[in-house]
Amino acid sequence: MVNVSEEQTVSLWMSVDVAPGAAPLKQDIDADVVVVGAGIVGLSTAYELAQRGYTVVVLDRGRIGMGQTARTTAHLSSDSDDSFEGLIARRGLDAARLFHQSHAAAIDRIEAIQTAESIDCHFRRLDGLLFAGPGQDASALDRELEAARQVGMTVEARHGMPFADLGEARCLAFARQATFHPQRYLRGLAAAITAKAGRLFAGTAVMGVEEKDGEVFVSAENGRTVRARHAVFATNTPTNDWVAIHSKQAPYRTYAMAFTIPRGALPDALYWDLADPYHYVRLETGPGTADYLIVGGADHKTGEADDAPVRFEALEAWTRALVPELGHEAHRWSGQVYEPIDSVGFIGRNPGNQNVYMATGDSGQGMTHGVVAALLIADLISGRSNPWSELYDPARKPVSAAKAFVSENLTAVKNFAEYVAPGEIASEEDLTPGQGAIVRKGMSKIAAYRDREGGLHLHSAKCSHLGCHVHWNSLETCWDCPCHGSQFGTDGAVLQGPAIAPLEPYKR
Ligand SMILES: Cc1cc2nc3c(=O)[nH]c(=O)nc-3n(C[C@H](O)[C@H](O)[C@H](O)COP(=O)(O)OP(=O)(O)OC[C@H]3O[C@@H](n4cnc5c(N)ncnc54)[C@H](O)[C@@H]3O)c2cc1C
Ligand code: FES
Repeated sequence: MVNVSEEQTVSLWMSVDVAPGAAPLKQDIDADVVVVGAGIVGLSTAYELAQRGYTVVVLDRGRIGMGQTARTTAHLSSDSDDSFEGLIARRGLDAARLFHQSHAAAIDRIEAIQTAESIDCHFRRLDGLLFAGPGQDASALDRELEAARQVGMTVEARHGMPFADLGEARCLAFARQATFHPQRYLRGLAAAITAKAGRLFAGTAVMGVEEKDGEVFVSAENGRTVRARHAVFATNTPTNDWVAIHSKQAPYRTYAMAFTIPRGALPDALYWDLADPYHYVRLETGPGTADYLIVGGADHKTGEADDAPVRFEALEAWTRALVPELGHEAHRWSGQVYEPIDSVGFIGRNPGNQNVYMATGDSGQGMTHGVVAALLIADLISGRSNPWSELYDPARKPVSAAKAFVSENLTAVKNFAEYVAPGEIASEEDLTPGQGAIVRKGMSKIAAYRDREGGLHLHSAKCSHLGCHVHWNSLETCWDCPCHGSQFGTDGAVLQGPAIAPLEPYKR
């Protein structure tokens, strides 16, 4: 097995500090809009609103820009992650056209902002190449070509990929796609928001929102409150909605690696294949004469596997077979995406609220989805009509996806059965340093972890969101909830929602 240092087990971008000066909120404050969450959704929304003259406050539980956006591979695509063939079948042609238009507009908006704000983020336009990999049935390309043309995408069929043994392979080339360095872009957005009198607070976990007499009150864990006219939950998965949205999307883990590659060895493009889950590849500017090749894929439903080394090995083997010039591994990491059951995310007014908004269901297109969310929510707040509001309406009932709805919610049913199953190990005393496992204690299940110094950390295995049973994630040394994707540290603290409260400590 490859020996990988802890420094390597973070994304390629993590070293960029998006907002070095951001501190916790220490007093009650007022604003026009309070945005909860400082990833691509939160910072893009705050930027759009600050541009329109609103006073904006952004609160984040952790550091600014260090959520899933810090783990992205940043393909900026106006294609559909689930294929246009699939999207047309699920939502119809008109919806698929609007979907493409909204993501194309998001790429245009990023391009315009990085120019207007002089953000040095390596933004560039390039082709997106969908190809049939070794052993894959290329006939899907014919159907996707037809579907993409129907939705109005500029696409052409080509022969020949710049990969070993794929010189004759067929592919589709989508024009005017793009990519950038996500953390450099977020750093530029954060600076622009601050310059427009927006305020960013890190280390400020939000526990709830109350809507009263045309105002919203967002309360933080440290007892501080922001009073505003509007609240936007940009928390990747809503922490304000407890059930409805979470039954319409499912959490998946996805894996990424960065390798060095001699500059010029591969044409600069976005590449992805027809596998399920698909592999995704692109280049990023590196130091000296080397660039980075970033590859991602090997997805699985959250909590249903804990075999990251095997997945990284498979990703590396797949890449080396196609790109013999590949250099050494520089980084490996994983993160979470939410798959909406009808292939379209949820953006807009939170069902049941007047002035509370949300964005989730990012899928593997969360970067453009995030900018679509910013444009749409800014329009809703400003009282302007927006052509995409119905497409993304969080209150919709995805009728054509009823089968997917049942199958995704079976995770919760299966999970509750785990309460009566035996523990994974007989006793916490059996844990080796660095290991976590579930232990049965009478009628309860305990999430047990032994740290590298030998100390034991025991918590209830019951997720504080809706009570599903957490699973150990050895790559990230944390507990994952398979039902709706909450993640908890070994100290029980929430790392990823929808949970807002920590795992209960277990006292022996
Ligand atoms: C490995 C990987 C590869 C990907 N590749 C691509 C790609 O190529 N192209 C693409 O378009 N998308 C891709 N995605 C998806 C994309 O990165 C995400 O969808 C996107 O970054 C999500 O942005 P966000 O703003 O919704 O969430 P985040 O960036 O996670 O931001 C949410 C923020 O909310 C904060 N927060 C949460 N709860 C609270 C609370 N209660 N109080 C205060 N703050 C809170 C968090 O701390 C976090 O900072 C990829 C994702 C992964 C993991
Ligand atoms: S995330 Fe919903 S029960 Fe755990």
